Amino acid sequence: MNLKSQFLLIVVCLFSLVCLIDCHKKCDNCNKYSWEKVKQKGSLPPLAWDGSSAYDERNELFYVFGGLNGSYPNDEAINSFYVFNVKTSSWTNLMAPSSITPRAETMMFHDKRGNYVYLSGGRGPFRRGINIVYNSTQRYDVRKNVWTELNQTSFQQNLANRSVEAETVSKTGKSYAFSGSTSTLPAFIRVPGALKTDTIVFDSVNGWQQVDVVGASPTPRAHHHLHYNEELDSIFTYGGYTNCSTYTTNECNYLGDLWSLDLSTKVWKQHLFDVTKGPGNRDNAKFIYSDQNQLFLIGGSNYQYTNFMDVWRFDLITNEWTQLTILPLVDPETYIQTPIPSTIGSFYFKHIRKCSVEFYFSRGSLSEISGSPLVNDMYKLTIPI
Ligand SMILES: *[C@@H]1O[C@H](CO)[C@@H](O)[C@H](O)[C@H]1NC(C)=O
Ligand SMILES: *[C@@H]1O[C@H](CO)[C@@H](O)[C@H](O)[C@H]1NC(C)=O
Ligand SMILES: *[C@@H]1O[C@H](CO)[C@@H](O)[C@H](O)[C@H]1NC(C)=O
Ligand SMILES: *[C@@H]1O[C@H](CO)[C@@H](O)[C@H](O)[C@H]1NC(C)=O
Ligand SMILES: *[C@@H]1O[C@H](CO)[C@@H](O)[C@H](O)[C@H]1NC(C)=O
Repeated sequence: MNLKSQFLLIVVCLFSLVCLIDCHKKCDNCNKYSWEKVKQKGSLPPLAWDGSSAYDERNELFYVFGGLNGSYPNDEAINSFYVFNVKTSSWTNLMAPSSITPRAETMMFHDKRGNYVYLSGGRGPFRRGINIVYNSTQRYDVRKNVWTELNQTSFQQNLANRSVEAETVSKTGKSYAFSGSTSTLPAFIRVPGALKTDTIVFDSVNGWQQVDVVGASPTPRAHHHLHYNEELDSIFTYGGYTNCSTYTTNECNYLGDLWSLDLSTKVWKQHLFDVTKGPGNRDNAKFIYSDQNQLFLIGGSNYQYTNFMDVWRFDLITNEWTQLTILPLVDPETYIQTPIPSTIGSFYFKHIRKCSVEFYFSRGSLSEISGSPLVNDMYKLTIPI
């Protein structure tokens, strides 16, 4: 090697080193707390709200099912089944057969490898004066594009009979649900037995089983979210809708408490905090991310039917909430700021990157009240972690 090529080699090495440092820095710089509008390609799912979604992080595939296709009295349950590929930002219509009952707020989850997607329980529209809740569990084979109804004992049908969210634990592939409602009758939460009180777990071998929790559980509720915290091997839930009053919009029906279920000890624990400094009483709020030190929460709805898209951080060490400031959405072509729609019942998932987490949501309704427009766009919130 002559002097000239040695010199060149050194220059190339130095350049690579600078780039490495610079690229690492970029990881922090680029990921401010910010909103973006996602360009959706392919065959878009129909407008709906209160549908169900399940995100297969391993394969970066986001499955969505059903929901209600309008607002009262023109809200019918649908059985649309679509998948969004995060890598290509593109939707595909997987077309559920007619044997898959149209429904809303179904427990939707997947197995550890992403080979199967499950649908269980769920409900029809409210305000029909009749009870439309389901107790079946169906499995979709991703590779064969085939649906199978699972055989369940009547005890298991009873466990599946609820409308609530289920959360898959990445470590084991088991899916959990807590409480939920079994009624679409008027003032459904006060129908005797309409709120389940148990914690249940699904695994592909045994199907649904009850979890033998140790000690007290949170009060029964509906319209609450479940989130798995991998570092703490615990499932978290915030607030929800409960049976304090028959008057639907009574403030006392809305909860603002934070709980976690330790999956190794099976103990539910309440995380107490100064409620005047937290997000307040709401249902439908979602967790974006958590580790052993913190949790991030977004949105929800309160007793006045107001929807939020605010973002909060909970410090698990000091038990304090802080509201975060998010950079507004700016149209990349016109540079005009656009507000993020505050929706209820959107499809959503979170995608963990190297040094940030992305929270996506799409569809949903601008309000629970009749005549509300449904949202077509997809948005992405980035939070550095
Ligand atoms: C909603 O679904 C019902 C039943 O499938 C259908 O008759 C109706 O046309 C749909 N409405 C809209 C707005 O898509
Ligand atoms: C679900 O549970 C409720 C209340 O316990 C009961 O009235 C209803 O018949 C059940 N529905 C199904 C589909 O199992
Ligand atoms: C359900 O049970 C029937 C009768 O025992 C059996 O033929 C069928 O294969 C079972 N289905 C599943 C999905 O296990
Ligand atoms: C489950 O739902 C089916 C259909 O509505 C019903 O016939 C059956 O009795 C329900 N099972 C239980 C345990 O309630
Ligand atoms: C609320 O629901 C739970 C669970 O079904 C029940 O034990 C409790 O009595 C209900 N409370 C009221 C006030 O209806």
